[in-house]
Amino acid sequence: MTLHQLFDHVSSTYSYLLADEQTGEAVLIDSVFEQHARDAALIRELGLRLVYTIDTHCHADHVTGAWLMKQELGSQITMARVYGASNVDLALDGGEVIRFGAQALEVRATPGHTAGCLSFVAADHAMVFTGDALLVRGAGRTDFQQGDAHRLFHSIRDQLFTLPDACIVYPGHDYEGRISSSIGEERRHNPRIGGAASEQDFVGYMTNLGLPHPKQLEIAVPANLRAGEPADGSGLPAEDWGPVVTTYAGVKQIAPEWLARHRHEVHVLDVRNPSELDGELGHLVDVQLLPLDELRARAAEVPRDKPVVVVCQTGTRSALGTMILAKAGFTRVANLAGGMLRWRQLGLPVARDASEPCKVGTPPSSPMQRSDRTRM
Ligand SMILES: [Fe+2]
Repeated sequence: MTLHQLFDHVSSTYSYLLADEQTGEAVLIDSVFEQHARDAALIRELGLRLVYTIDTHCHADHVTGAWLMKQELGSQITMARVYGASNVDLALDGGEVIRFGAQALEVRATPGHTAGCLSFVAADHAMVFTGDALLVRGAGRTDFQQGDAHRLFHSIRDQLFTLPDACIVYPGHDYEGRISSSIGEERRHNPRIGGAASEQDFVGYMTNLGLPHPKQLEIAVPANLRAGEPADGSGLPAEDWGPVVTTYAGVKQIAPEWLARHRHEVHVLDVRNPSELDGELGHLVDVQLLPLDELRARAAEVPRDKPVVVVCQTGTRSALGTMILAKAGFTRVANLAGGMLRWRQLGLPVARDASEPCKVGTPPSSPMQRSDRTRM
């Protein structure tokens, strides 16, 4: 099983993408609505098939990305039955098992932070995803959402501390940069419930934390009870000019096939060096040349009346070019995925000789050139 641990720095939430290497089936634990594009890009790039999104509990500090994932990738939404949330495909109780490929996660009921908290244990007991029940050197607060420190004490002691010492603990949050722990470590060193702490000690600690009211509570809880479906049914806003996809690296990209069909709707900027333009790969007709080395200083020369597609040999330099333009205030800009190399592999049209337009640093004057019209 492969594991990717992902982080949302606004809510300090950890999300976990688990995948079965043989079948490519995957699950995503505790996704974050605002991180949907990042997480979906990772799943696509790894060629995985997302089977389930899993929420360890109804979060009060962020909205789940479960509903968005279902819209985009067709995954099934799972959540604890106790909440009675809408849009849930698989309502979970403790004792059940979630399967993906040859992998399995045991579902353990670990209430106390909320009434419906679940923890998920790998079949070989090598790792456990504890949500907010057990945190690294901490435990989830118990002062709202039917929280109950007595229940949490027994959840941790009876359901989690009974796992092997070496079992890695992956928490739902951390605010100090700690990414994981182990059952043995927490059993010994957790200041709230480790060592010889009694139920009375734990409850005394938890009821006197004096934490501020969660800022997102009034927004997050109702949204999470819809599995993250926005109240108005809308998804994330899409680009209005083309099917732009954001990669896991954060680069906005557009497919060459789309550019070939919509060439006249965009401005194409080639960021290679002048000497490359007449090389083996050639160049697109009617492009502006502005080498990457000069782009920051000369970004004002790029017209803003159309969306900009940035191109280079393989899509590498142009990816940075895309980011430079975005930083310079270009809101409609994307990298040509795969660059000239992929463009040529697809047999798409290029300028046939150096006489066809490509002016150094100067935007082209006419929107369509001969080879575009005849070959597209
Ligand atoms: Fe929580």
